[in-house]
Amino acid sequence: MDSARLRPISPIKKTMDMKNAKELQTLRWAGDLHRILCMQGGDDDVSYAKNSDAPASAISLSKPFLIQSIQSMKLFKGEPSLRIADLGCATGFNTLATIELLVESLRQRYYMECSEVPEFEAFFSDLPSNDFNTLFRSLPTLYDGKRQQHYYAAGVPGSFYHRLFPKRKLHVAVSLSALHWLSQIPGSVLDKRSLAWNKGRAWIDGAKKEVVEAYAKQSEDDLTAFLRCRREEIVEGGVLFILMAGRPGQVQPENQLGDPDSRAKHPFTSSMDQAWQDLLNEGLIDEERRDTFNIPAYMRSPDEVRRAFDQCAGFEIQTLEYRKIVEHSKEKQEEWIKDPISYGRAKANLVRATLKPMVEAHLGPNLSEELFERFERRASADIDMLHKTCFYGVIVVCAIRK
Ligand SMILES: C[S@@+](CC[C@H](N)C(=O)[O-])C[C@H]1O[C@@H](n2cnc3c(N)ncnc32)[C@H](O)[C@@H]1O
Repeated sequence: MDSARLRPISPIKKTMDMKNAKELQTLRWAGDLHRILCMQGGDDDVSYAKNSDAPASAISLSKPFLIQSIQSMKLFKGEPSLRIADLGCATGFNTLATIELLVESLRQRYYMECSEVPEFEAFFSDLPSNDFNTLFRSLPTLYDGKRQQHYYAAGVPGSFYHRLFPKRKLHVAVSLSALHWLSQIPGSVLDKRSLAWNKGRAWIDGAKKEVVEAYAKQSEDDLTAFLRCRREEIVEGGVLFILMAGRPGQVQPENQLGDPDSRAKHPFTSSMDQAWQDLLNEGLIDEERRDTFNIPAYMRSPDEVRRAFDQCAGFEIQTLEYRKIVEHSKEKQEEWIKDPISYGRAKANLVRATLKPMVEAHLGPNLSEELFERFERRASADIDMLHKTCFYGVIVVCAIRK
């Protein structure tokens, strides 16, 4: 695609961006990904709050499992308060609606089955870089003049790959569309001399064996670390409910997204790599800058998830399933076929909502906006892709702390 029409960047801005990016890059190489990984805050068009339809569909799909696990959960009679945590809550409707659903379902059970209904505490937990202010502003008010709110809310900043709560604190822990984010990019993938150097790609789909193996190992270490921490924090009989992006069982990890259309259309694959290549071809970045950007996400298979539970022990799995969700409705697809520009914009906003803080840390604000603009144009221009239907895979796990 011709990129000559794109807005040029002033040389001064470019130098400042590169300097900024170099400093931030050092931060990242030092293993501080958790300081920059976050969804885009606020509530404008490029915010996560306005671009979380796919996770919302994943939650709707898994809602029956969540309700079922709450219905069959042991009741903690005599406990003055029940404690629920959402790990990787971000901002927006999904976390609020999930906490509300959990509190209401448990309230009703206690009301029907026990003489007393406990109070509820909800812990919204995410990395410190999360926009907790926007989240807190959107919480229902504690007392609306007529009735007391159903739960007391608190924010817990930190990585879910570490301990976040004291021992035996939680009765229910959920993590929704968050655990596919890894704790770090494996060191070998960022080492130019290593066989796992991920040249020319922003992600691992279709990457060479060594890159995929490094990500798979990181994913295994991360998931077992997550489970070991939750094993300490969840009371006996408590529920751990996980929904994470995943891949079907029979599919090898280098094929992260299942079928070829989904692979090609996913925002982390072709259009993303082309956009980086555009910046390189236009002399706005060098090869090293492109090749050191990697997306820290990994889609696990159900077997990989089960293996981590086996390694960790302490949980009894009740449900472990892979499910597929269609990317968007038929009507939306038809609308976009008629208006590819708005398709490109919607996809670019989705990418901004999930990757902007990370890309900005790598490129600085101006160059990262250039990248997103190129992504938008690449996505709009791929008319064939618009006719294809793409799926997201999710893994749903419900487990009880033994
Ligand atoms: C795609 S959002 C999902 C948000 C929300 N649960 C939902 O379903 O809409 C993923 C969230 O996981 C968070 N996250 C990623 N890695 C994390 C980690 N190591 N510890 C805590 N949160 C993390 C991100 O900051 C982000 O807010």
